Amino acid sequence: MTQPTLFVAGAGGKLGRRVVELLRERGYPGKIIAGSRHPEKLDFPGVETRKADFSDPAGFTDALAGVDRVLIISTDVIGEARIRLHTDAVAAARAAGVKRILYTSLPHPEPGSIIPMAADHYATEQAIKATGIDYTILRNSWYTEGLLGSLPAAIASGKWYTAAGEGLISHVSREDTAKAAAGALIADAPGSRVFTITGPEALTVRELAAIASEVTGKPIEVVDVSDEQYAAGLQQAGFSADLAALLTTFEIGHRRGLLSMVTDAVEELWGEKPTTVREFLTANRAALTPAA
Ligand SMILES: NC(=O)c1ccc[n+]([C@@H]2O[C@H](COP(=O)([O-])OP(=O)(O)OC[C@H]3O[C@@H](n4cnc5c(N)ncnc54)[C@H](OP(=O)(O)O)[C@@H]3O)[C@@H](O)[C@H]2O)c1
Repeated sequence: MTQPTLFVAGAGGKLGRRVVELLRERGYPGKIIAGSRHPEKLDFPGVETRKADFSDPAGFTDALAGVDRVLIISTDVIGEARIRLHTDAVAAARAAGVKRILYTSLPHPEPGSIIPMAADHYATEQAIKATGIDYTILRNSWYTEGLLGSLPAAIASGKWYTAAGEGLISHVSREDTAKAAAGALIADAPGSRVFTITGPEALTVRELAAIASEVTGKPIEVVDVSDEQYAAGLQQAGFSADLAALLTTFEIGHRRGLLSMVTDAVEELWGEKPTTVREFLTANRAALTPAA
């Protein structure tokens, strides 16, 4: 039987690159095509590359010629333009006659979410559903990698300021979201599914701080602040007002348990258990306490 031809759009990004590599590591016997705005920069031996720029829907439609399944990785574009890019990508997939659309979304994107990007994801999900084509939506929780951005300062100062209260969050490593996407591309299950892609546990900030303390040997005191104090603290630390406001919505989402769901989707799709926060931080200990 001929194996479906797979197309990974956004293969130049961190997630897309790993999806292509994982498909190859697993020995996918069919054709894999890696798409990017800059295909000349891709370096996957033996993998065909094509240009994939959602801002050129006609070009993207051409790039999808002969493709059975396409993974549309949500772009890093902020604002209104993002919905257009994503819905144009979906329309291109439809025009090209692909048989399955896969898309990376976020948990609970429905209207009413405090997270501004949720609206982009919801609009894209709706556009995909409206095509009538089989789909797999991968609602990725927050990357565990995000902790590598925020924890070093908390470890250095010994204080973790938070407005998340006792809210729970289930971080998932980018590697595990790549495994879920690669597994979903390969899977022959017919029909449409929505998966929430999470790590194996949901933790409060206090629990995350305790793990980080144990891994690094450095004490971290969790300091509860209001949303306003949190945003003001970020601005004092040099963040723009817009970015501070965005990051504060993440704290509110955390507090409300928007990202608290724990699923076995990574294991179901790839056959391996996802990484715990403790495992991830232990493997990345050097990045948490940079040498003085
Ligand atoms: N769950 C989380 O915590 C979290 C955190 C950050 C971001 N995200 C989302 O997850 C996505 C993947 O994460 P990542 O770590 O791989 O981010 P990344 O390395 O910043 O990758 C950005 C992605 O956007 C694609 N892109 C941008 N403009 C595009 C366009 N006009 N047409 C087609 N593709 C375009 C890039 O594709 P090429 O460069 O190959 O063209 C690349 O795949 C991000 O783009 C973002 O939507 C999730």
